Formats: sequence, C-alpha cells, structure tokens
Amino acid sequence: MCGARLEEFLDLGRQPLSDAFVPPDQDGEEFFFRLAVGLCPSCSMVQLTEEVPRGRMFHEDYPYLSSGSSVMREHFEGVARRLLETELTGSDPLVVEIGCNDGVMLQTVAKAGVRHLGVEPSGGVAARAQERGIDVRVAFFEEELAVALRAELGPATVVYGANTLCHIPYMDSIFAGVDALLAPGGVFVFEDPYLGDIVEKTSFDQIYDEHFYLFSATSVSRMAEHFGFELVDVERLEVHGGEVRYWISRAGERSVSPRVSELLAEEEARQLGSLATLQAFAAAVGSVREDLLALLQRLSSEGRTVAGYGATAKSATVNNFCGIGPDLVAKVYDTTPAKQGRLTPGTHIPVVPMDELAADRPDHLLLYAWNHAEEIKAKEQAFSAAGGRWITYVPDVRIT
Ligand code: SAH
Ligand code: TYD
Repeated sequence: MCGARLEEFLDLGRQPLSDAFVPPDQDGEEFFFRLAVGLCPSCSMVQLTEEVPRGRMFHEDYPYLSSGSSVMREHFEGVARRLLETELTGSDPLVVEIGCNDGVMLQTVAKAGVRHLGVEPSGGVAARAQERGIDVRVAFFEEELAVALRAELGPATVVYGANTLCHIPYMDSIFAGVDALLAPGGVFVFEDPYLGDIVEKTSFDQIYDEHFYLFSATSVSRMAEHFGFELVDVERLEVHGGEVRYWISRAGERSVSPRVSELLAEEEARQLGSLATLQAFAAAVGSVREDLLALLQRLSSEGRTVAGYGATAKSATVNNFCGIGPDLVAKVYDTTPAKQGRLTPGTHIPVVPMDELAADRPDHLLLYAWNHAEEIKAKEQAFSAAGGRWITYVPDVRIT
C-alpha cells in the first residue's frame, strides 16, 4: 500500500480470474496470473504481489450477486437500519456506497426515502439494483468521480463499502475521493475479510484476484493515518468467515473507541503482522492442500461420488492450487443464474442449478461456500438425512 518492497510469504501458483466462469463453447484462452501474497514490512499491509487490471474482473457480466444468501440479506438490512438510526439523522443526509452490487444494503435506505447513491462498475449487477429503485452510478469509485459527485450532490454523511475496499489496490485515490466527498464530521465505514480470521482458520481461499488486500486493524489504522484519517472504531463480524468493520473519520474529528486499541493490542500479542506468523500460515495452507487432495483421491478410488456446493470465487483458489478438476469433483451446484451452464475457472468443473442435487444424490458434498455453512446445512437437511456427508477444509480437512 505504501510502496515499500513486499516480503512474499505464500505462492498460490497460476490462477484464473475467480469469477470468470467459462462458457462450454468458449474458444479464446482463459486469462491467468500469478497469485502470491506478501507483507509490507513498513506499513504491515498484507496484499497480493500482482494486480489484475480492474476491467478484467468487474464488467457487465460480473456474476456475483450479494442477495444470494438470506443471512447476508439480513446482515445488510441491519447495516442499513443502523446507519439510518445513528448516522443518517440530520437534515437531508446522503450515503454513498462503494460497490453496492445488486443493492442488498441500499434497498433499505431507498425504502426509507433517504438520499443515497451506489457506485458500482459491474453493469449487470448495477441494473438489478436500479430495478429495486436504487440510484446507481455505473462507474469505479475513485478521486475524479468523487470530486464530481461532491459538486453534483453535496457532501456525503457516510461513505460505506462492504467486501469492496479490499478489492481496490489504489487506496491513494480512494482516500482522496473520500476526503473530497465526505461532510465534516462524516464517517467512512467499510467491512472486509479479516486477516486475523484468515490466519486462525487457514482460510487461504479468501485469497484470490479480487481480494487484493487482507486487512487487519494494524494495517488499516496505519493506512488511515497515512492519508490524514483516523481509525475510530472496529467491530468483529461473523459473516463471510470472519470480518472486521472499520469506522474511519478525518483525524481528530471523532472520539476513538477503546475497541481500537484493544484489537491493535490483540494483533500485537499474537504477532499477526510478523513474517514468521505468516510463514507458519503458509505452511498450514500446504497441509490443507495435501489433506484435501488425499481425501478426494481416496474417495474417487473407492468409487464414491463427490460434488461441490457453491461455485464461490474462493473455490477457484482451492481448485487451482490443489489441482481439483471434474475427475475429483463431478459438478458444482449453485443458485446463481450467470454461473449455471458454465465451467469453473481454470479446472473446468461443470456448474449446475441447485435443483439437480436432489436427483443426483452424491455421496459427498464439498462445501466450497463454507462461510454460509449454517444457512446451507439448515436448508439441506434432506441430504444429510439420506446419509450424505459434507466435506469441509476450513479450518482443516474433515468429513462431517
Ligand atoms: N457490497 C456487496 C458486493 C461485494 S462484491 C457485498 O458485500 O456483498 C464487490 C463489488 O465491488 C462488486 O460488485 C464490484 O463490481 C464492485 N467494485 C469493484 N471495484 C470497485 C470500485 N473501484 N468502485 C466501486 N465498486 C467496485
Ligand atoms: P460467497 O461465498 O458469498 O462469495 P465468493 O463468491 O466471493 O467466494 O459465494 C456464495 C456462492 O454460493 C454464490 O455463487 C451463491 C452460492 N450459494 C448457493 O448456491 N446456495 C446457497 O444457499 C448460498 C448461501 C450460496
């Protein structure tokens, strides 16, 4: 983030774009890049060593839909209600969301009649938000756009982003944009996968092209300071396998919650930002690969049928790093229309509609969408009741 030379600690090899599901008749080559992660010894940021051009990832056909999980729909309704009650209370407030996707959060704000704008570069998902009555600008958030929005709409009371800021390498332009847009006393809030959870759970599949940064309170606090801002509050969240919500204001504008120093101290105590900790994480990732491959090969040799559940972006890292193709996982069930009928990136496992599961009755389901485990297992009780078994690989490989 600050430009110092990174110390690389994990190499996940040659990887495709995680959300580029391949049409069976595609004739052109897939795009591949080298997925590796490094630590900045100067600012403690953990980030990818190579950047994929943003237009290759976020475009008209970007398939990910935020509303695909009922738990996430409830989560974002809660976020909107909280912002409405605590921040968007003055006269004619405005919230700008960076990466609003299909409008899962802003729909509640729009229904409340509060001024809002979603900034979303992926045209297909933006159109879904617009169909819900949400104001959306189909664009990448960056300084130039933010300056134009400030002139057009006036200052924003809140700038918010979920699972989006970690996707954006150019933090200088983001903070300059937030500075241009945010009202005095306003707040910049974002929530993203937490490095602390990723290390603790060995959830290396959180690392893929779109997840450029793996944030911690330490790195975000330093980043905020670097740009004249201040980290004023943090909240640990359970969604998506463990996240942190960061509350940031211009330096000195808000009082700082004791939760910030508590989390910073916790990170210091567990040496989250040390190269040795991250190298130990990399070794644990290697063990998960060995264990998962050994289990899938054994099940295959025993003639057991294995399918995947959830064609997540995360699964691209698992499949391509471990070498899992249709020989080991016959197909992947997923509810997303734009993924169905296509092949998983790189290793080409067919993605099929969820309703094929009942007819197929595989012996095992590899839970790629492990971050939605509770919601999914509650829905799929018939599979377990009929003797089906789940395979998970976070925090380690096991059959349940
Ligand atoms: N906030 C939603 C969406 C997360 S997916 C949720 O939490 O579920 C990340 C989204 O960020 C995608 O829809 C992508 O198109 C968008 N995005 C990527 N880069 C962006 C940028 N520079 N500005 C605004 N949105 C961006
Ligand atoms: P998710 O884990 O939210 O994110 P990512 O793609 O960034 O790793 O993706 C969940 C995927 O799983 C998505 O393609 C939708 C699918 N899914 C189902 O098919 N059924 C479900 O019940 C849920 C919750 C998700």
